[in-house]
Amino acid sequence: MKDVALLGSTGSIGIQTLDVVRANTDKFNIKVLAAGTSVEIIRNQIAEFRPETVIMADNDAGRLIKDQFTEITVLSGQDALKESVGSSDIIVNAIVGFAGLPVTLTALNEGKILALANKESLIAGGPIVQKARMTKSAMIIPVDSEHSALHQCLHGYQSTFNEPSQSIRQLILTASGGPFRGLTLQELEKVTLDEALMHPTWNMGPKITIDSSTLMNKGLEVIEAHELFGVPYSEINVVVHPQSIVHSMVEFIDSSVIAQLSMPDMRLPITYALNYPNRNDSQWGSINWHQITKLEFEQPDFESFACLKLAYQAGETGQTAPAWLNAANEVAVEAFLQHQIMWVDIPHLIADVLDNYDGRQAIEENDIYEADKQARLVARKIMERK
Ligand SMILES: NC(=O)c1ccc[n+]([C@@H]2O[C@H](COP(=O)([O-])OP(=O)(O)OC[C@H]3O[C@@H](n4cnc5c(N)ncnc54)[C@H](OP(=O)(O)O)[C@@H]3O)[C@@H](O)[C@H]2O)c1
Repeated sequence: MKDVALLGSTGSIGIQTLDVVRANTDKFNIKVLAAGTSVEIIRNQIAEFRPETVIMADNDAGRLIKDQFTEITVLSGQDALKESVGSSDIIVNAIVGFAGLPVTLTALNEGKILALANKESLIAGGPIVQKARMTKSAMIIPVDSEHSALHQCLHGYQSTFNEPSQSIRQLILTASGGPFRGLTLQELEKVTLDEALMHPTWNMGPKITIDSSTLMNKGLEVIEAHELFGVPYSEINVVVHPQSIVHSMVEFIDSSVIAQLSMPDMRLPITYALNYPNRNDSQWGSINWHQITKLEFEQPDFESFACLKLAYQAGETGQTAPAWLNAANEVAVEAFLQHQIMWVDIPHLIADVLDNYDGRQAIEENDIYEADKQARLVARKIMERK
């Protein structure tokens, strides 16, 4: 029986992780649940999974849970999230955004197995996360479907920058293309929030759904792949694959390509991450080969979807540039969700923020928090001026 700490339990990945745990109560025990504000959802989760500890990042939400569940430990506040790592065997980081960074770092520094959905922590904190990964017994098992696919194609091999694999020619990340695939720049000027929130193949939280519509999600995943597998940016490529059946591929130096395929269901990479290095029966993700009539691949449109290009540029710059990219994107997406800017303004705002990048080195943890803070300040100033 493995004890699991699930952070971000009330979101899309959190709820799907609990589906997997519910189907495998003989293997996994939920020891800790953590979330932000969603009191109603977590109440039901506590009643069903009976965790020892619950953490609410929001203090008011924490107070409500504490009053109702006197028999369990309830902590609240953003800083309390780090306490979640504790004595659990696996930490699932399913928090959205930069707020997930302290948990990623604490889990790795304590030598835990980290099932990582929160890509933003790896992107923003790259060089510092790399150091934390060196801790004895620390391990990241990616939950993102593309990186789970790469992890599977590479049989779990995760390289570091000091020791890159000599046998990989390229990593090929697949992208569904999002709801606006094929639209021209002129057509993209008119897209609405409702349209951007309608993803053709995946049902996800609002932030990643918008990121998918701009292809920033794929850009972030390029940086995530670089950080996880130590492959240079020139050897990480993106192909659009609208069916979302092939989740990513590795081409080796002998021109052989290994791909991972399944139906688009996040419970499959979650099952893989929780059971790694073993495989477990899964009721999700099985392909009906009589219904799959075509698998298409095409080039992404870097001009209409400038976020992808911006992510490659920030990744190549390195140091705290990806933290700036991530912060600028979080501010832009939030502003779009609040109807403060248009969809087409998202890449412009991010590009304007990156033009102000101060070149700060990522030497210690605080450099990442400062970079994030500075980039958000710059983004808000630029928005106020417009
Ligand atoms: N959804 C997917 O299919 C998918 C696929 C691949 C990767 N991912 C990645 O997985 C992560 C989660 O995505 P999601 O779609 O599940 O997001 P989501 O549905 O928006 O859920 C986010 C979760 O994070 C919690 N949260 C938000 N802010 C927090 C804070 N400051 N402190 C603590 N908890 C906080 C939320 O709690 P409350 O709601 O209670 O406030 C919620 O439980 C993201 O990094 C995303 O890129 C998601």
